[in-house]
Amino acid sequence: MNQQEIIRKKRDGADLTAPEINAFVNGVTSGAWADYQTSALLMAMFINGLSPDEQSALTGAMLDSGERLDFSDIDAPVADKHSTGGVGDKTSLIVAPVVAACGVAVPMISGRGLGHTGGTLDKLEAINGYNVNLTTGEFKQTIKTCGFAMSGQTAEIAPADKKLYALRDATATIESIPLIVASIMSKKLAEDLDALVLDVKTGSGAFMRRFSDAKNLAEALVKTGNAFGVRCEAVISDMNQPLGKYVGNTSEVYECVKILRSEADDAMQPTLELAVELAARILVLCGVADSVQSSKFKVQSSLDSGAALEKFRHNIELQGGDPTVCDQPENLLDANLIKAEIKAETSGFVSEINAGAIGECVSRIGGGRIKIEDAIDFAVGYQCEKKIGDEIRRGDALGVLYCRRENQANSIREKLTGAYKITTERNANDARLIKEIIRGF
Ligand code: URA
Repeated sequence: MNQQEIIRKKRDGADLTAPEINAFVNGVTSGAWADYQTSALLMAMFINGLSPDEQSALTGAMLDSGERLDFSDIDAPVADKHSTGGVGDKTSLIVAPVVAACGVAVPMISGRGLGHTGGTLDKLEAINGYNVNLTTGEFKQTIKTCGFAMSGQTAEIAPADKKLYALRDATATIESIPLIVASIMSKKLAEDLDALVLDVKTGSGAFMRRFSDAKNLAEALVKTGNAFGVRCEAVISDMNQPLGKYVGNTSEVYECVKILRSEADDAMQPTLELAVELAARILVLCGVADSVQSSKFKVQSSLDSGAALEKFRHNIELQGGDPTVCDQPENLLDANLIKAEIKAETSGFVSEINAGAIGECVSRIGGGRIKIEDAIDFAVGYQCEKKIGDEIRRGDALGVLYCRRENQANSIREKLTGAYKITTERNANDARLIKEIIRGF
């Protein structure tokens, strides 16, 4: 079948066969399919959806478009976590060292932030000297030496996804569950994993605002991982407010180091809670612990003993960063920033927070990217003072913005204040951090 016939078949609502999907993905990778033909098929897939067989075939073809890592020479289970992205979403920096300290190898291939969401690579680059551009050889050697490595995607992993993602971005076809699943899983399956835990966010700062969409995505991700022989579980977690205390690259690293040092304050507890949940589930899937409860105990011990902190320090040294951040996390913070309080305009209860708007504000003052090529100011950020359910008085600080210039604060003050809905009654919505667990085999 040629390009037009494949596009016509999907356009008319029929299912494509695996060879047709392979022809499409190979054509995208080699350049034989023109961008307008690829975009047309993506739109047909977006509108008509994909059957489970098409979903598997697309994931497999995208996975096979590039290289697969091989960790058969590592004498430990191999596992990773993936988050669908959020605001203040920093748990990778805790989960990776904790899991490594408990005997599981973690090849963490991460991404950059875009729009309102942050990215693990940007947070890591906030550590002076930290190199996130490891070659495959360096990546493997780092895992062998300290149990985990964190790096960007190489051009060799799922190259079809890079092209397809760019076209989806340009053609309004990002928000399709089967296309998201194929995109995420083609990259994760290239990591030669035994187990994968997915943190699927739902709420005002998430890709999937509605719980039902997040659940559909979580189920599809777990099923696809299972179909490729990887033990998977998804944690559907709350993103109706930023996670933990800080939003912004250096301050998020600071929060993680404080947690690894067992010095977390109350505002950091949600970050700790979610990191413990994700790490504990990885250990169970890897057979290192036999129940989530005993696994959480193991995870907590790795934090209490300092073993996870030492793993993080060793990893920073190996990846060229400044390991003294583990001893003096305060040195990460820039004392020259302007602190601007964002004040409540009325008294009452915080009943809703638009986490996406807070993420956008931090991006707008340089803390994230509006366009992929934008440079980042790692130091700027936002400290969340009030969370959903808190009682406040007019004039109380809802949060503190750390910025370079007064006019930056002025340009986003209204949007930040407007991100908080204050009501006279306390909101009775579901405020749980962990909403649901989606189990696989
Ligand atoms: N993240 C990805 O890697 N791909 C998507 O399609 C969406 C989120």
